[in-house]
Amino acid sequence: APEALNRAKSLFAVIPDYPEPGVTFQDITPVLADPEGLTTLAEALLAPFAGQFDLIAGIEARGFLLAGAMAGLTNARGGSAGVLTIRKAGKLPSPAAKVSYELEYGSAAIEAPDVLRPGHRVLIVDDVLATGGTIAACRELVTELGAEVVGATAVMKVEALDGEKIAGEVHSLFSC
Ligand code: PRP
Ligand code: MG
Repeated sequence: APEALNRAKSLFAVIPDYPEPGVTFQDITPVLADPEGLTTLAEALLAPFAGQFDLIAGIEARGFLLAGAMAGLTNARGGSAGVLTIRKAGKLPSPAAKVSYELEYGSAAIEAPDVLRPGHRVLIVDDVLATGGTIAACRELVTELGAEVVGATAVMKVEALDGEKIAGEVHSLFSC
């Protein structure tokens, strides 16, 4: 419902000049802390992709929380979904693949655990789409491991950065 989404949006914390001058940080933490807000986000993120995926790839760190909530909701409603933890490089004991990428500020790398198999259908989720580097890297990671990316979804899209240019199509709930 649009009212529920509007309410969720009103709970965002917007922090100017964080983590760098000129970057406006869109913090979903207060929405996640709100039971109704959390469910609203999970439902809306899933809506276009029902029945189309086997695994939800959450990107560290806030993407983990969204992926967990989305998979829980999917399974509670008779669907079937597992979670894939896409981690910042150096945290997994035995990563299956690694991809480096550029950030709005600096560069980074992500790794996937060794659970993806050919034929797996993966939905990618993250909190924010900014330059698109993170989601693009995640797409590459999943594809490199022989699985299929069926879609990408994010809570917030930073319109001015045109992240879909490199990340491909990303379903987003809000833009700023
Ligand atoms: C932020 C945000 C997204 C990413 C978006 O994460 O949570 O994951 O940037 O930026 P992009 O579209 O330009 O790639 P960050 O890398 O700062 O790390 P965090 O999630 O661990 O805080
Ligand atoms: Mg992130």
